[in-house]
Amino acid sequence: MALLEIERLEIGFGGLAAVRGASFAVDKGETHCLVGESGCGKSVTALAVMGLLAPTATRKAAGLRFDGQDLSGLSEREMSRLRGDRMAMIFQEPMTSLNPAYTVGSQMAEVLIRHRGGSKKAALDRAAELLERVRITSPGMRLGQYPHQLSGGLRQRVMIAMALMCGPELLIADEPTTALDVTVQAQILKLLDELQRELGLAILLITHDLGIVARVAHRVSVMYAGEVVETAPVAELFGAPTHPYTRGLLSCVPVPGKIAPGEPLGSIPGIVPRVGHGFTGCAFRQRCDLAGPDCEGTVPRRTLAGDHQYLCLREPTEIARS
Ligand SMILES: Nc1ncnc2c1ncn2[C@@H]1O[C@H](COP(=O)(O)OP(=O)(O)OP(=O)(O)O)[C@@H](O)[C@H]1O
Ligand SMILES: [Mg+2]
Repeated sequence: MALLEIERLEIGFGGLAAVRGASFAVDKGETHCLVGESGCGKSVTALAVMGLLAPTATRKAAGLRFDGQDLSGLSEREMSRLRGDRMAMIFQEPMTSLNPAYTVGSQMAEVLIRHRGGSKKAALDRAAELLERVRITSPGMRLGQYPHQLSGGLRQRVMIAMALMCGPELLIADEPTTALDVTVQAQILKLLDELQRELGLAILLITHDLGIVARVAHRVSVMYAGEVVETAPVAELFGAPTHPYTRGLLSCVPVPGKIAPGEPLGSIPGIVPRVGHGFTGCAFRQRCDLAGPDCEGTVPRRTLAGDHQYLCLREPTEIARS
């Protein structure tokens, strides 16, 4: 059952088409990884869902639905009611979410009171319970501390706990472990994985790290220059990557399950084009061995077995031979 459905999302910044018709869906309770090179539109896609795009951005979509509800029709007030309540987002830098001027307890409590009302005491009890849930010891003491008194890993845990205050169904995590050292990264990922299973949360996890994808994803969507060029269950994506860009990304990691955390995306010669609004055809064509003049025209979305889709003119058999 789809919890979040994104259909032909378009995001522009002036002449720049940052997202160009991206489509994918996140099911209830699944971990969905969104991958792709820097600048391909992962973060702005997440921000568009949360209604947090910069005012200079334009957003359009054929469909943008959360639990069946059309988000594009909601007012800013209705969006802010959903945000932090049924859907929450965490960032690479925890200080994006944490206010240095308030204690951990008071800002966590504030989230619950704003959405649900109730007493400060009840909210602080809930905050302590969540700190424990994210494996922070002495939660009572931590509630009285300020963010700067915490290590980077602890701040990340507090940010996660704060995101969970209202029991969201969807957690969007934009590279939540990129700024952390490897050991702490692994702990935070394990925590997200546990929370996902214990709470039945759906997680949209944005990452550059294929090791992380192999460990936690149920489903993966690959973005390239503002489009989702392939989306598939994780075993399908690693087992039968089909879009030439996905195949390039995975070329350094032939054996799923043997991918170490921190494994970078494969490198493909060339750079991601910055694409304007009038652009047509496949944006990967300059870097693709299979490209021909036909790739300047309309590119179909093809469906393979097992809910696996890719955006390319070439047949899977033709791609596999290359
Ligand atoms: N506020 C903004 N104003 C203008 N352009 C923006 C803004 N935010 C993002 N962009 C542009 O939109 C495109 C997509 O950016 P986005 O941050 O979503 O990339 P990303 O896939 O998250 O990259 P990274 O992996 O580096 O985080 C980029 O070309 C970026 O420069
Ligand atoms: Mg980003």
